[in-house]
Amino acid sequence: MDTTINERRLKMFASPGVTLSVLNASGTRINTQEYGELIDFESGCWAAILGHSRSEIVQAITNNVGLLFHTHQFFDTNHPDSLVKELCNASNLSCNYKGTFLSSGSEAVSLAIMLAELITGRKRKLSFSISYLGASSDLRIPRNPEIWTDLDISDCIHCKKCLTCKECLKFEEIDFSQFAAFVFEPGNSGGLVLFAPEKLVSYLATEIRSSRGFFIASEITTGFGRTGQWFGFQHYNFFQSKTNLPDFISLGKGLGNGYPISGLLVKPDLAQFIESTGFRYVQSHSDDPLGCIITRKVIEIMVRENLIEKGNKSGEYLRRKLIEIGDQTGGIVEVRGRGMMNIAVLDKHYKAKKVFESLLKRKCFIGYSEMHNVIRFYAPLTISIEEIDVLCSSLKLILAEHVGSVIY
Ligand SMILES: Cc1ncc(COP(=O)(O)O)c(C=O)c1O
Repeated sequence: MDTTINERRLKMFASPGVTLSVLNASGTRINTQEYGELIDFESGCWAAILGHSRSEIVQAITNNVGLLFHTHQFFDTNHPDSLVKELCNASNLSCNYKGTFLSSGSEAVSLAIMLAELITGRKRKLSFSISYLGASSDLRIPRNPEIWTDLDISDCIHCKKCLTCKECLKFEEIDFSQFAAFVFEPGNSGGLVLFAPEKLVSYLATEIRSSRGFFIASEITTGFGRTGQWFGFQHYNFFQSKTNLPDFISLGKGLGNGYPISGLLVKPDLAQFIESTGFRYVQSHSDDPLGCIITRKVIEIMVRENLIEKGNKSGEYLRRKLIEIGDQTGGIVEVRGRGMMNIAVLDKHYKAKKVFESLLKRKCFIGYSEMHNVIRFYAPLTISIEEIDVLCSSLKLILAEHVGSVIY
């Protein structure tokens, strides 16, 4: 590798300690200098739901980039409007959300919060301590306790104590009237893939709303089919009623299949109110046409190829195989997931980073967390059963070879 490649790059993330020089990527494959062609079980940064460099997306970019890809906000194109309509139709959102398109997922969450604060005049927000909401200083963990109540819900996940959360002492002291919003991340939870139970989510959403606060669904990772539904909140019966639908839905990642576009959907009455206040929010790439064109194409492909169902089935298959591997090798103690958002918790004798390295040598790129000792599989929805089999047979060998011994 060219040793000057990282001389001036400022890296502020935990890197795996191996060099991965990428040459190109296509579909589910990433071509690297050091390891050759890898199967990508991370979808880029959890975004390339259709796989990399999908030809129709490349074609849409090529066709439009020479015509118009960025404008001043005073200029209109039909793309943002059409995109909101097509997205709501595809995902069965039965109320006429209005929407705007931005650049990063963090921005889409921050804007939803800013609007909830504007309407309520309140500053405090409610969320779960395990929820990753974004990289910006207002969202990153640890969040400022002066304006955030971050609930520890570890004892709620499998709670059988009470029929409803209202009876639980845990919530007795909470004054819901102080909150501008409940920011709910439906499932990813900082890479832990824990799912808040229906009774908790419906309880908090109801309490927030009856205290005139708002419900924000933060769907940056869980949206766009990642969990086997268009949106993670759609796994909860509570939101099947039109009146219960989230007040704000923040979108990112899969929206552009890796192109940097994010978005915010706002319920129509709130959108009308916000516009009437004269509130101003504009940034350089608001509703840029190229991002909207790309996302419209992403939606078209997802619908045509029924990719949410496909990803969901492949995810179920993967989880079954991982459980089998756990039974056969003792290397996996728990498998959690929904759709194509999955983790395996490793037995303490195994180290996630070492398993990651061993899988790289066997041509599979996965995610991992050393802190939680988990390995992660957020593959493109287009991943094939054969590719999952390649991963699983390699993983089984790796774990079986090291039965009972710590891999250092
Ligand atoms: C659940 C969740 N929310 C928000 C974000 C922030 O999105 P972005 O990195 O595009 O700002 C991420 C990014 O990983 C995420 O996983």
